[in-house]
Amino acid sequence: MFCFQIGCRLWNLSIVSVLILTFSNILLTVRLLHSTDCSRQEAPPSEPLRLQQQQFKDSRTPGQSHESSPTPPHCKVANSTTGPTATVTNGTVFRVDLRLGRWDSRHLYKLYDFALPGDRYAELSEKYSVCLATQSSLEKLQSLVQVAHHWTGPISAAVFAAGDEYSLVQLYVAFLRRCYPVVRDRVSFHLAYPKDRPPSQIRPDFPSRPKLDCRRPEAALSGLVRLRKPETVKWRIKAAYPQNHLRNLARRNCQSSYVFLTDVDIIPSAKLTDGLDVFLKNAKCKSLCAYVIPTYELDERVLFPRNKTDLIRLARKGLARPFHHRVFIYNQFATNFSRHVWQATAGREGEAVHVNHNVTNFEFLYEPFYVAPDTVPAHDERFIGYGYTRNTQVYEMFVAGYQFQVLSPIFTCHWGLQNKKGRPSWRERQNSMNRRHFETFKSEVFARYRKDPLKMLGSKKTGQKR
Ligand SMILES: *[C@@H]1O[C@H](CO)[C@@H](O)[C@H](O)[C@H]1NC(C)=O
Ligand SMILES: *[C@@H]1O[C@H](CO)[C@@H](O)[C@H](O)[C@H]1NC(C)=O
Ligand SMILES: *[C@@H]1O[C@H](CO)[C@@H](O)[C@H](O)[C@H]1NC(C)=O
Ligand SMILES: *[C@@H]1O[C@H](CO)[C@@H](O)[C@H](O)[C@H]1NC(C)=O
Ligand SMILES: *[C@@H]1O[C@H](CO)[C@@H](O)[C@H](O)[C@H]1NC(C)=O
Repeated sequence: MFCFQIGCRLWNLSIVSVLILTFSNILLTVRLLHSTDCSRQEAPPSEPLRLQQQQFKDSRTPGQSHESSPTPPHCKVANSTTGPTATVTNGTVFRVDLRLGRWDSRHLYKLYDFALPGDRYAELSEKYSVCLATQSSLEKLQSLVQVAHHWTGPISAAVFAAGDEYSLVQLYVAFLRRCYPVVRDRVSFHLAYPKDRPPSQIRPDFPSRPKLDCRRPEAALSGLVRLRKPETVKWRIKAAYPQNHLRNLARRNCQSSYVFLTDVDIIPSAKLTDGLDVFLKNAKCKSLCAYVIPTYELDERVLFPRNKTDLIRLARKGLARPFHHRVFIYNQFATNFSRHVWQATAGREGEAVHVNHNVTNFEFLYEPFYVAPDTVPAHDERFIGYGYTRNTQVYEMFVAGYQFQVLSPIFTCHWGLQNKKGRPSWRERQNSMNRRHFETFKSEVFARYRKDPLKMLGSKKTGQKR
């Protein structure tokens, strides 16, 4: 190796700065992981993002109503705004050509893989044996902040955007990446939009430099959501949300051998990733196993539980309970949260991730969040909107012979205790559409596996999704 003096000096200087950057990155990450998730800490004020109006064909006329979707209030901004400053100076962050993309099998949605890969996604996919696959629409994207802080492995996120939401999603993704290095590193974004509402231009009165504050990701998001065109808002309220398309899109872009599929507002417990990784690397079950990670819902006022002991303490006080316990108990009933089963084994310090018990009373409509190789059956894309989306996939796994095994001491949480509320009529309509598809679906499952363990055929057993 040889070089000239000046060159050498520059070379040394750059090595030193790379080392400094790496070191401070590690320090910051360590500090983040050890800071309380939910405290609102100080962070430097953000640079406003600049948005450039893009060229879209948009012939639609504006509607009348103007509403905004509420974003679920919750905490949990870490002090992570010290990454490199903005590289985003315009609203274009997705690397997609809107003239290209992949259609779904019914030509209803256009899908884009890796619209924006995470900076370290490929590397993390090699390091970890499990990838978190998740899906979201614009108005729930803020949950990714906490998800990405807790999940240290690769995250494959499928995002739905209709009409002008396309630009708003990009702005928000750019914001997340700029403010939260963990999002930039870990999350790969995939995109889906409906044929009926292709990407369109933002409102003419859209501020050219919307103020997005790194310290307040929820406020930043609700600000953007409020700036959607009224026609988009109106359309979104009634339109069926293609959950299963998005789930497949997220799953199939995972590169690791196992996938943990969630919805974006399901937050993994901190330090779950490494424990799970060790467990999976030693997992003995080589054939048809799915590992269930129990999900709780949390009172908005509490801090995210640090460990299972903490979680169960909250549950005893009524500040946490199994997800959908009030709204739709079958959702997770078969996981068996009882005091003598899952809750019994709370907490030795540093306990390794292990199978706590097997699911022995599988019932139709069970829909746990589980970890499994991505060779499990796909999510059937005939089910669009509410009803029969996730539980039909889990049902097919059961018929195919999968054994569900419940892990401990890891868990996930959803913010907010859910109570029964009235079902809007559009939701009932979507549900009954899907009920019709379900009749076909269950015959197909029978034809495929020649088994009917739950005696579903010929019965009118269709259940009710929520
Ligand atoms: C957050 O980060 C800023 C900038 O690095 C720093 O000045 C501030 O002290 C940090 N706050 C906390 C609570 O760590
Ligand atoms: C926006 O910025 C990106 C990256 O700097 C660049 O590649 C892209 O061409 C820009 N787009 C527009 C519309 O200016
Ligand atoms: C939970 O486990 C207990 C003890 O094994 C068992 O008696 C009960 O039937 C189980 N409940 C469910 C819903 O699986
Ligand atoms: C759980 O977290 C609490 C504090 O948040 C700590 O005091 C306790 O030792 C932890 N327990 C285990 C088993 O790790
Ligand atoms: C759980 O199921 C697996 C796979 O069928 C089996 O090997 C294991 O023995 C079961 N464990 C218990 C505790 O029943």
